[in-house]
Amino acid sequence: MTMKKLDKNLSPVGSSVKKITTKVLQEMKAKGEKISMLTAYDYSLASLVDMAGIDVILVGDSASNVMAGHETTLPITLDQMIYHAASVIRAVKQSLVVVDLPFGSYQGNSKEALTSSIRIMKEAGAHAVKLEGGREVKESIDRILTAGIPVMGHLGLTPQSIYKFGTYAVRAREEEESERLIEDAKILEETGVFAIVVEKIPAKLAARVAQSVNVPVIGIGAGSGVDGQVLVLHDMLGINKEFSPRFLRRYADLHKVITESINAYITDVKTGDFPNEQEQY
Ligand code: KIV
Repeated sequence: MTMKKLDKNLSPVGSSVKKITTKVLQEMKAKGEKISMLTAYDYSLASLVDMAGIDVILVGDSASNVMAGHETTLPITLDQMIYHAASVIRAVKQSLVVVDLPFGSYQGNSKEALTSSIRIMKEAGAHAVKLEGGREVKESIDRILTAGIPVMGHLGLTPQSIYKFGTYAVRAREEEESERLIEDAKILEETGVFAIVVEKIPAKLAARVAQSVNVPVIGIGAGSGVDGQVLVLHDMLGINKEFSPRFLRRYADLHKVITESINAYITDVKTGDFPNEQEQY
């Protein structure tokens, strides 16, 4: 068996690809360099996102909504997350790939959290896992870290708890919840997470969180005072028209591009215009 020699960035020696690692992200925070993160769930789009130079790809459990059409993130299974993650990993050459632990795969006990994380790392080849929650998941994070698996935290609006919240509205507007969120961020940092996502919380609070911890804080709907930003790829590309929160910036209108292309194809097929002489054997 031949072993590839790896340089200090975990890239094959002599290759020009600089792999993003958890250490690189921490250096970026220290230098004040912003971190870019997007979701991906399949090979084709992951390869575009990676080639464009994104720092982190999140195989989010938002696949439950975006890919499978469920109303919430709760139904997606560990097997389904591993399928999506393995497809993404096959495409990626440089980005750090973080995979969500789905609902029900880590809340039971810390042993289950470790077993689920090991499956994600072993079967998909992921680089890190993400889980939702603060102090209540500390024991699970501790246990996952014992296996050498990097963990990303997720605070604020945690969609796996949607039935507890009852709404997707902004979290932690009140003093008590915002103080608890800052404490949770510190607990996650002390436990050893390498980064924390904060979702849909007031910008001032998110900036305070980013200043209170040394690990990168990556926001979605959390303003500009954090160390990086994450969006759901299908939302920012404008594939999905129904979801329009205030924090979402659309960089393309792929809904229009795709619909117009499909309509043109249908017309060409129906009129006999496609295929023409050059498009046949
Ligand atoms: O599942 C997901 O896409 C996420 C992001 C919204 C952060 O957790």
